Amino acid sequence: MTEPTLADDLALALELADAADTVSLDRFRSLDLVVEQKPDRTPVTDADRAVERIIRDGLAARRPGDSILGEEYGETGSSPRQWIIDPIDGTANFLRGVPVWATLIALVVDGTPVLGVVSSPAFQKRWWASTGRGAWLIETGPGHTAAPQRLAVSGVTGLTDASISYNSLKGWDEAGSLDDLMRLSRAVWRTRAYGEMWSYMMVAEGLVDVSGEYDLQPYDVAALIPIVEEAGGRFTSLTGGEALHAGNALATNGLLHAETLALLARS
Ligand code: IPD
Ligand code: CA
Repeated sequence: MTEPTLADDLALALELADAADTVSLDRFRSLDLVVEQKPDRTPVTDADRAVERIIRDGLAARRPGDSILGEEYGETGSSPRQWIIDPIDGTANFLRGVPVWATLIALVVDGTPVLGVVSSPAFQKRWWASTGRGAWLIETGPGHTAAPQRLAVSGVTGLTDASISYNSLKGWDEAGSLDDLMRLSRAVWRTRAYGEMWSYMMVAEGLVDVSGEYDLQPYDVAALIPIVEEAGGRFTSLTGGEALHAGNALATNGLLHAETLALLARS
């Protein structure tokens, strides 16, 4: 079998996202949604599991030699090519009927995320990127044509003019870093907790300039990294290292990265 190209892999990821959207949208706001608590005390729904299964089935059929890491069913296979899946990022929103949630699909090759798809059907948005081919958004709601738009981060150059987003105050507090977030909040123009994948996609779209948080797993960030980077931004840990396995993340428009890291390090 010939090796798939990156374009082949992206086409497959978008196809799998279509299948995932059909399953997740059918369960969103359904009256018989089954919600359970996982051993780590976080919620999981039947939709999380069904979406991961449909993506895994597609990958097993189309990329049988590749490894898979998913939030609900763990790691399978061993290969320099690993698909990383969060079937529903924003499960807490999903189960409360808030439309800000997405299926995240990434391909990591030799440790580097080379493509990411963030598909948010209830929010009527899908973002994607692959290395060297830009970051894109398609919006399907009223007033939108189905044409993809190429994304670019903002040109804001100073923190005093920056709009920042984060996920939760509790996340920073539990990491012992609430003072860092408060110092950053005082230094910037505006703060809003848009949360979940949306904060990072807003950085890629140039709508927000800085986004960061603690308490992350590789499947929470793998798909976000190429999208922010291909839009011209930077995506690292909160101390400036690689983000995929750091457990925390800082995404910026690039111009503000060093200033943000320096401010956060000032504790
Ligand atoms: C959560 C989201 C959230 C992050 C949490 C994650 P989930 O993922 O990514 O933004 O702050 O740490 O657990 O559980 O909804 O897939
Ligand atoms: Ca999840």
